[in-house]
Amino acid sequence: MSENFYQQTTSEPTSSYDISLRPPAFSEFIGQEKVKERLLLMVEAARNRDDVLDHVLLSGPPGLGKTTLANIIARATGSQLHTTSGPQIEKAGDLAGVLTNLQKGDVLFIDEIHRLHPAIEEYLYPAMEDFRLDIIIDSGPSARSIQLNLPRFTLVGATTRSGMLTAPLRSRFGLVNRLDYYTCEELAQIIERSAGLLDIPIQADGALEIASRSRGTPRVANALLRWVRDYAQVRADGTITGPIADKALAMIEIDSDGLDEMDKRLLEAVIYKFQGGPVGMGSVAVAVGEDASTLEEVHEPFLILQGFLQRTPRGRIALPAAYQKIGAPPPLGGQANLL
Ligand SMILES: Nc1ncnc2c1ncn2[C@@H]1O[C@H](COP(=O)(O)OP(=O)(O)O)[C@@H](O)[C@H]1O
Ligand SMILES: [Mg+2]
Repeated sequence: MSENFYQQTTSEPTSSYDISLRPPAFSEFIGQEKVKERLLLMVEAARNRDDVLDHVLLSGPPGLGKTTLANIIARATGSQLHTTSGPQIEKAGDLAGVLTNLQKGDVLFIDEIHRLHPAIEEYLYPAMEDFRLDIIIDSGPSARSIQLNLPRFTLVGATTRSGMLTAPLRSRFGLVNRLDYYTCEELAQIIERSAGLLDIPIQADGALEIASRSRGTPRVANALLRWVRDYAQVRADGTITGPIADKALAMIEIDSDGLDEMDKRLLEAVIYKFQGGPVGMGSVAVAVGEDASTLEEVHEPFLILQGFLQRTPRGRIALPAAYQKIGAPPPLGGQANLL
């Protein structure tokens, strides 16, 4: 059950419930200070020049605020936001349709931009650089290229896998803005803000308890908050305290480090089925019955950050903390397999 909380790598939450938790402005967007500062500067510079904002690339694991920032950027520049995603653009014609619909100054948000088809990506280059679209019509001897001028627009790209972006595409963005996992204090602030919006009574120790188990991710924090709210309503007087949060999260098997069942299954597979590694994520995915890209985008970065897993050129290896976490005896020869 618990892994459903953050398996939204491809589809965005659309209920008004969730949207209402999205901070609408930079001033309400907690954390990511460096990224925020840069974006604010860009917005101000564009405003001073009376020009459109430069293209922006946002990268980082799911649930850290990429879509939220795209919305905030559009709002801050007073522009219309158009949203699409890499997999949605199947043909060059789809892209042409999106681009020719834009008005001057609009923000085009392309989510999962690393999943754009390479052939389609090439049409994006002149659009980003010169606001021009070269389309080929017909094929064979009658094929000809026509050029369309586009209005000046801002492309905001989001990716969970900046490493999978091609160099030409990456270079057409001014900056890569990498979002980092949030600190426990930042998550506690986000939880208190959300609790306020949802009218949930919460004590500081309750917010901190949820925060420390939210794997650095606001989307997870908000999902856990809702679960703990339900628990507090049914099993207590409705107020979220530290002990109530602890019991509620234990019930869905989120442990004190925020690891869920899938994280633990992943570590168990590396340790028991692959002798601690090195092992490729594809093999682990088969062993645990989960999609490799979900493991790579959602689970692995957090396990690496927490010191459970290490990525080496030959594959992933389990670190001592992983053996401790799942109660497995440490490997013979200690760290020998790190070499
Ligand atoms: N910095 C933040 N402050 C407050 N809430 C946030 C912040 N970042 C994300 N959120 C919340 O987390 C949820 C997930 O963010 P989202 O922008 O959809 O992530 P991504 O697009 O990176 O997967 C949003 O609905 C929003 O409510
Ligand atoms: Mg998103």
